[in-house]
Amino acid sequence: MTAAEHLYTIQLLGTGEDVRILDQVFLPHALEFRDLKTCEEAAEAIAVMRVRGAPLIGATAAAGLALAARVDASDEALAAAAAMLRATRPTAVNLGWALDRSMKHLLETPVEDRTRVAYQEAAAIIREDAMANEAIGQQGMELIRQLSQAKGGQPVNILTHCNAGWLATTHLGTATAPIYLAHREGIPIHVWVDETRPRSQGAALTAWELHRGGVPCTVIADNAGGLLMQRGQVDMVITGADRVAANGDVCNKIGTYLKALAARESEVPFCVAVPTSTIDADMPDGGAIPIEEREEREVLTATGLAGDGTVQTVVTAAEGVPGCNLAFDITPAELVTVLITECGLIKPGHAGDLVVSD
Ligand code: MRU
Repeated sequence: MTAAEHLYTIQLLGTGEDVRILDQVFLPHALEFRDLKTCEEAAEAIAVMRVRGAPLIGATAAAGLALAARVDASDEALAAAAAMLRATRPTAVNLGWALDRSMKHLLETPVEDRTRVAYQEAAAIIREDAMANEAIGQQGMELIRQLSQAKGGQPVNILTHCNAGWLATTHLGTATAPIYLAHREGIPIHVWVDETRPRSQGAALTAWELHRGGVPCTVIADNAGGLLMQRGQVDMVITGADRVAANGDVCNKIGTYLKALAARESEVPFCVAVPTSTIDADMPDGGAIPIEEREEREVLTATGLAGDGTVQTVVTAAEGVPGCNLAFDITPAELVTVLITECGLIKPGHAGDLVVSD
């Protein structure tokens, strides 16, 4: 399969009112889909990471609001539904962005038309994210092409962290969009995939989708990137982001900052691929971005496929030892070489200029 043949991460089916997601908690060992029937089910899917990745979280929240409108489209009921969805995860700005955008349209719409409008809005968010993925891909592919030419056609080695692939969006992904398009163009590439403990989005999701798409890739331990960069085995880093502040500070999966520090030390370009829906113009810098802290259990255990074919979780730390599970970190803008957006390649300091508030 090629990148263009990826599966749908979220779909509005039937007459456009049935919401189906690819349930990511079973990957890479099983491919399962799940129908979301209620707003509560949409909120649960975001909270337990059946769907994850900033753009997909936003799309699922918009769909959840539409499911709520089907039951009760009054101002009060929609506000309560939006509050429930908003409380699921704090860091990705796309969640609040999608809810604010949908709520604004809904509150301007007569109650009897709100369900239709809520689904239309969810569909528009899904569609626009797909278009942004495509444009990000084109922009980023040119960077890969330049590196490829400079290397005389030798494979371009790209390091990525977490999953900013098609599983995190509605089409080609953000960090992976340039990779998929370069691969489709026949530009030789190889991707170093950070494992991304504790939830293993790199090993379980990014490597799964790249491998499935025929893109050469290798999973590495989270701490391996620094050595690979020192050895000249990384030509560029591309990550996604959960929120970019107006000054260009980047909030992304925990461990991103350390990769950016290592990249600067070894003079490796550090690129962040983001749709403008991930830029928070109201956040002057990264200091105030809320950092999600998840259950300590996630860092004290590991989950995988056992020899008997069952998925098992085992304890990896000594009994009674506490764990700290900070899910995201902040990479200062000065460590970011370029933001790859659907509006073009921009210097991180200009991030806030891209967002036009209505
Ligand atoms: O905790 P997750 O899996 O939702 O974290 C996802 C990331 O950190 C991604 O890099 C980010 O959302 C960008 S997705 C295009």
